[in-house]
Amino acid sequence: MKSVTVPRINGQRLWADLMALGEIGFAEGRGVTRTALSDADLAGREWLVGKFREAGLDVRIDAACNVIGRLRSGQTGAGLVAVGSHLDTVPQGGRFDGMLGILAGLECVRTIREHGMELPRDLEVIDFTDEEAAHNAGTLGSRAMMGLLKDGELERSVKQGRPSFADDLRKAGKDPTRIGEACRDAKEFTCYLELHIEQGARLESQGIQIGAVTAIVGIYRYLVTVEGAPAHAGTTPMTLRNDALVKAAPLFTLLPEWVKARDPEMVGTIGYLELFPGVPNVVPGRCQFVVEVRSQRSTDMVHIRELLKAYAASREGWCVETILEKEWTPCAEPLIQAVVDAASKEGLSCIRMPSGAGHDAQSLAAAGVPTGMIFVPCRRGVSHSPGEWTEPERAADGCQVLLRTLLSLAGQQQGEVGRVPHSGA
Ligand code: HGY
Ligand code: MN
Ligand code: MN
Repeated sequence: MKSVTVPRINGQRLWADLMALGEIGFAEGRGVTRTALSDADLAGREWLVGKFREAGLDVRIDAACNVIGRLRSGQTGAGLVAVGSHLDTVPQGGRFDGMLGILAGLECVRTIREHGMELPRDLEVIDFTDEEAAHNAGTLGSRAMMGLLKDGELERSVKQGRPSFADDLRKAGKDPTRIGEACRDAKEFTCYLELHIEQGARLESQGIQIGAVTAIVGIYRYLVTVEGAPAHAGTTPMTLRNDALVKAAPLFTLLPEWVKARDPEMVGTIGYLELFPGVPNVVPGRCQFVVEVRSQRSTDMVHIRELLKAYAASREGWCVETILEKEWTPCAEPLIQAVVDAASKEGLSCIRMPSGAGHDAQSLAAAGVPTGMIFVPCRRGVSHSPGEWTEPERAADGCQVLLRTLLSLAGQQQGEVGRVPHSGA
């Protein structure tokens, strides 16, 4: 690998950006709520576009509302290096999940420009739209860019009465029928890198500073609907009820049993549930919930899916619809090694590790872009919570490793970086 002199990023400036962005959508005791394409997310994007422009990036917003900042190299025909993540948060989330990857990319750009470095290829910093599944399946922007959206995804809402992705694209001034214009050829990218907090406690508990991500977890999700009959909660005797929640309830404890019995490392969650009409004085007429399972093996997820489908098929009023089935996605070995080498050159301890969380990186890797991820520890592994935290030094470590990795990869020839065949996931 060609050796490059790597300047220091400005950790204080990165931290100031993280704290400033973390104010947008923040409420005391409730963390940051900046769900995709909400008013808070749009405000965050406006803030980001200002920062990108100040740093000398050409900014465009594509047909899927992805915010793309490009540092031009003056070289034509060389594949670009992209770094990114997402500005959107889960409801009542933290200040780091997603934001760190984008703001570290921005900090790398500023450092490169301040040191008068000329890259041999363009560099993009990307904020991908709706990583967190505010509309339905998540990673919508990165999958739109890689041509991996499934039929009907634009129109489907996560919850009745909530805007679909198409509705919110229109609100943001985009025409959803032109979403295809966001699609790019994987070959445009020499590689993609994403810095992220670990969202688990492995690095912190082992006192390790950097994780070189080897693969991203598989995620299957299903919308389950159980039909009963709405009735008056005061006048309908217990024996005459067809209560959708009571019918659904046994599955809530069965799912964890199925998952634990299959594989101790597998996880299964029902994190969303809605009752209709959802008021205290009506017996629930319908219960809808989402079953999610994650594993490194498709066979494990298929096993739970088949148990769920058989359970539903043997009962009246049950229906199971697939929301998404994303497979375990490996990172490119040369990029994993580049992260390990960069950490070592920075004097930081590093382990190889898989990711139990989903990421936009998964979309790029699935489309055949050589992809790598860098993890930094977060306090007690807490994430998707107002308590999510990492220390300024840890964020700076990750950013420094990102800069060193991207500079080493930017210096390599197109095709050398470890392109993998399109898996179409
Ligand atoms: O759900 C996930 O794993 C990711 O944090 N969006
Ligand atoms: Mn997240
Ligand atoms: Mn994330």
